[in-house]
Amino acid sequence: MSAMADRIYLDHASSWPLRPEARQAWLDAVVVAWSDPARGHREGRAARDLLDRATLTTAAALGCDDRGLVWTSGGTESVHLAVLGSARAAERRGDGRRHLVCSAVEHSSVLRACERLRDEHGYRLDVVGVDAAGLVDPDEVAAAVGPGTLAVHVQHANHEVGAVQPTNDIAEVCHRHGALLHVDACQSVGQMGVTLDQLGADLLSASAAKFGGPRGVGFLAIGPNGRVRALLEGDERQRRRRAGLEDVAGIAATAVALEVARSNLQTEHSARELLRRHLRRRLPEAVEDVQVHGPLADAHPGIVAVSALYVDGEALVSALDEAGYAVHSGSSCASTSGEPSHVLVAMGALTHGHVRVSLGPELTIDDLDRFVDIYAEVVGRLRETVGLG
Ligand SMILES: Cc1ncc(COP(=O)(O)O)c(C=O)c1O
Repeated sequence: MSAMADRIYLDHASSWPLRPEARQAWLDAVVVAWSDPARGHREGRAARDLLDRATLTTAAALGCDDRGLVWTSGGTESVHLAVLGSARAAERRGDGRRHLVCSAVEHSSVLRACERLRDEHGYRLDVVGVDAAGLVDPDEVAAAVGPGTLAVHVQHANHEVGAVQPTNDIAEVCHRHGALLHVDACQSVGQMGVTLDQLGADLLSASAAKFGGPRGVGFLAIGPNGRVRALLEGDERQRRRRAGLEDVAGIAATAVALEVARSNLQTEHSARELLRRHLRRRLPEAVEDVQVHGPLADAHPGIVAVSALYVDGEALVSALDEAGYAVHSGSSCASTSGEPSHVLVAMGALTHGHVRVSLGPELTIDDLDRFVDIYAEVVGRLRETVGLG
């Protein structure tokens, strides 16, 4: 069981609990590296030293040059730097490419950033669909990409259903046309052992909160052909690609969290994969009229999404929370819109009573069996309130 004794935390895909080693690194860093890393004095140099070391190890983990790593305030900013920053760089070069492609199941930050370029800057945007498992067909991307395409924005692992996109095939299409591939790997870095090369990506966005680093830190890894221009102006930090004082303690803690996540990768991955398969099997055995989403094989190891007919997702989340289980429902990071999940809609899947269960390696099969019992009870109760069940 995770964290608090009477709670079971099943929302690692929103926020993975801070790893103890990262917490310690943060505490150590705020003591020695509190000054401004851009200053030449001894205090500034101490901060610079820590920042440079964190940049080196993180860049090495992602397979990019340390000059290609830009620290940000999280996944959302990394994505914006990739989408809007690559457009700014292209406009400065005057290369005339003003067409974008993304998939229909991207995180809302990718969709909104692409739509901003379309609505406010006149870019053409093609949104490619997915199949019933949530997978993009590279042939559909190939049909959309042309000589005017600046970039294709596609995620690695989907944040709601765990589908893993064929980024290498998509990269091949992009590079044939001289377009960039940006991969939103926020759900994969530290959990699936991805690098720029393995994914075929020119730009790769990540969020520390998803792999046990501090909240509010992220990075964009940039390969040899990737170019971005800063979204914030003000100084020359981070090779002029992101102005503003860096959160050195957060960055140091992120580098440590990533190192720990990477050294635990095999064990955490197999533990979660076992739990994921168990839960996917048990849910439809225990409850009638439920649909489990996303592919069984070649998927993210910690994400299980399930819909229940005749049930409201938010009511289900609240009832499970009261019973001690933290799960998430809805399509964006802040599920306040009340709209059905755009990911499930794109898959043509059942959107009623949608719950995402995301698993940490500390959970046990018993934890999940108890969760399934409570889930069955709560779904039954909610169905009774609408005269069913
Ligand atoms: C796939 C994906 N991209 C981007 C983000 C945004 O990351 P952050 O919450 O660090 O801004 C998330 C967050 O859930 C995500 O799952």
